[in-house]
Amino acid sequence: MLKNHSLVSIDDVTDEDLEEVFRVAERMNSALATGKKVSIMDNKIMATLFYEASTRTRLSFESAMNRLGGSVITVADTSASSVSKGETLADTVRMAASYSDVIVVRHPLEGAARLASQFSSRPIINAGDGSGQHPTQTIMDLFTIRKEAGGIDGKTIALVGDLRYGRTVHSLILALSRFDVDIVLVSPPSLRIPEHFLARIPSSRNIRVETDLDSVISTSDVFYVTRIQKERFTDQNEYKSLIGTYSLDLDDVARMKKGSIIMHPLPRIDEIKPEVDFTDHAKYFRQAAYGVPVRMALISLILEA
Ligand code: NCD
Repeated sequence: MLKNHSLVSIDDVTDEDLEEVFRVAERMNSALATGKKVSIMDNKIMATLFYEASTRTRLSFESAMNRLGGSVITVADTSASSVSKGETLADTVRMAASYSDVIVVRHPLEGAARLASQFSSRPIINAGDGSGQHPTQTIMDLFTIRKEAGGIDGKTIALVGDLRYGRTVHSLILALSRFDVDIVLVSPPSLRIPEHFLARIPSSRNIRVETDLDSVISTSDVFYVTRIQKERFTDQNEYKSLIGTYSLDLDDVARMKKGSIIMHPLPRIDEIKPEVDFTDHAKYFRQAAYGVPVRMALISLILEA
């Protein structure tokens, strides 16, 4: 049950919740396609508190709430708010809860959304907490795989790039492990997924670790490519030494299975060459577009009357 609950980790979403979100998101997607009005959030206000850069996540949350007929209040630049005066997250959130019905938080520290949920009288939605999780992104990622790869079960899914710091991968691997999938983790040795995430994957799941993208190119159904998370490195020289580790180009695409799809949570830096965008495999802009119907579904289920 999502109703009136915070969404901090993908563990907050049961298998039944997921199915319900997908059902409602499909309805929202059709309503968006046909221009049908869905004014079910009249009088409801969503607050967005973004302590870290965002384009897609904030815009799609705000677009979703506007499409539902609700309103949005936002702090997109915390240097222009009382945060710059030293206000704690707990105080900001307490106050935001008295101005709104649901609060979307993005913060550079892992655990920040959990902390916010402990001080808020309104549901908190985690829009990314440092290198922790990004559960709403994960739900739209699963929605994309269902729609664009024809389902999740039975697929071989390659997670590629910065698996150490990438929060989208962290919540995605936990969610994928509930399905009957084979997972291949492709990263440089220094950017492997933290052990505590791996430890949570049931032993019945088939997981392989690789450093070379070539080794999975002709066998994967889904390529989930991620950016090296520059802002998480304490040593920028280490970051620089990893730039360009993976760069998917047309030669790679030519060797991919028919019907396989390429995803990316975006922003993309140099992991996927722009010419790949024009191939049938490229689904990352659609994936980003699904952010609106999926977030419409989540907001409406959380704030359900
Ligand atoms: C991701 C994030 O913020 O974690 N972006 C997003 O929300 N779509 C991925 C990233 O920044 O690399």
